[in-house]
Amino acid sequence: MKTRHFLTPLQVSMVACTWLAVAAPVRFELPKETAAFKPGPGADLAKNQCLICHSAEYVSTQPRLPRAFWEANVAKMRDKYGALVPKEQVPALVDYLVQTYGKQ
Ligand code: HEC
Repeated sequence: MKTRHFLTPLQVSMVACTWLAVAAPVRFELPKETAAFKPGPGADLAKNQCLICHSAEYVSTQPRLPRAFWEANVAKMRDKYGALVPKEQVPALVDYLVQTYGKQ
């Protein structure tokens, strides 16, 4: 006589997989060095002005680009995307970006 299982082995494993998928904690951590701006003169400006809309990775993942790029980039953030960086902070901010993420 054939034993009747309440659940077939296949069903049991499907239930187990679903449970594992639901129970597995969703963890997402950025590596520290890309999650924040690197320290240095002007880092506070970047922290205050450039993390309002996106992560520091937008900056840290750029190739080492010259000053002209960072000037244009900060101008774009202000003019196109509406970053509220006060005009008088722009040069110090660009200095920081060039020194830390660009090339002189
Ligand atoms: C008001 C919102 C806002 C602020 C504040 C802001 N950004 Fe952005 N930034 C954006 C948007 C929108 C994009 C384009 C996003 C996309 O393409 O996915 C972007 C993209 C970028 C990129 C990627 C390259 C590019 O041009 O698309 C860099 C680099 C960048 N921002 C740097 C900065 C820096 C440096 C600051 C601080 C001065 C800053 N952002 C502040 C909105 C902002």
